[in-house]
Amino acid sequence: MKEVQVYSPATIANLCCGFDVLGMALNEPADEMIFRKSPSPGVHITKILGAQLSKQPDKNVVGVVLEKILHHLSNKKLGIEVEIYKNIKPGSGIGSSAASAAGAAVGANILLGTNLKPIDLIKFALEGERLASGTGHADNVAPAILGGISLVKSYCPLEIISLPSPKKLWATIIHPDIEIKTLDARQILNKKVSMKDAVKQWGNVGALVSALYRDDVYLLNRSLEDFIAEPLRSIFIPAFYALKIECKKVGAIGGGISGSGPSVFMLSKNKDIAEKIAKRMTEIYTFLPIKYRIYISTINNTGVKYNFK
Ligand code: HSE
Repeated sequence: MKEVQVYSPATIANLCCGFDVLGMALNEPADEMIFRKSPSPGVHITKILGAQLSKQPDKNVVGVVLEKILHHLSNKKLGIEVEIYKNIKPGSGIGSSAASAAGAAVGANILLGTNLKPIDLIKFALEGERLASGTGHADNVAPAILGGISLVKSYCPLEIISLPSPKKLWATIIHPDIEIKTLDARQILNKKVSMKDAVKQWGNVGALVSALYRDDVYLLNRSLEDFIAEPLRSIFIPAFYALKIECKKVGAIGGGISGSGPSVFMLSKNKDIAEKIAKRMTEIYTFLPIKYRIYISTINNTGVKYNFK
């Protein structure tokens, strides 16, 4: 195989109540990467468009994942070159580093014909997340690789459960043009959680999982609540509560901070409502001195996509 072209999706981590354990893959936006075998051993990042990122492999999420895979194969002659087209802005809260990491793991696996299992691809992708945010959280990379909605049942050992995606689920996401590094957004969180908040939170996680199995929108609406990260992180997101309240008035099932922010997501049952939510988000942000982008997407049930020649 000469070349593998990869489309690696944005993801919404946490889904409000599932800090570090729940995540969902989107169809839009997605990063693109092209992987080729190189006669020169090691990893070579030849082009990066769309973001200011290091081309030095050990300082780049894609590079780190590729290096780990080459090291695992222990064939010192293998070389990979990669072009990276970032459509997902770093620090946006919709899994930019995860898209890079997941795309790298899948791209290398196809290019080199290594037949790694999805759980192993996720483990390699976690190394990229570790570089970007200081921790190997799997709630973005798992759905990016597997598609749909993932639950991280445990980290040690890593165990991922794919949950059912409601057939007609849309996400509307507003990305305010401010950068929040996941590393920083994790440092502001309390190291201890009160028993009262923990009980409310795990009640919601269980209810959300049940809502997905039952395709129960009303239960989903009542489960999309976060008592742990949202009270601390929402402070950095302009008009966060206005978005939450107003989007529900035009039909949103519910939503909250996407990953560690600043993006805010709202789920809905159809395209018409998803567009109404986008319009309401625009009306709210029109009055703020801040640029923003809005994405409307269905759920990506396949994960990273690729073509090869
Ligand atoms: N679970 C992670 C966090 C997701 O909230 O810090 C980051 O995208």
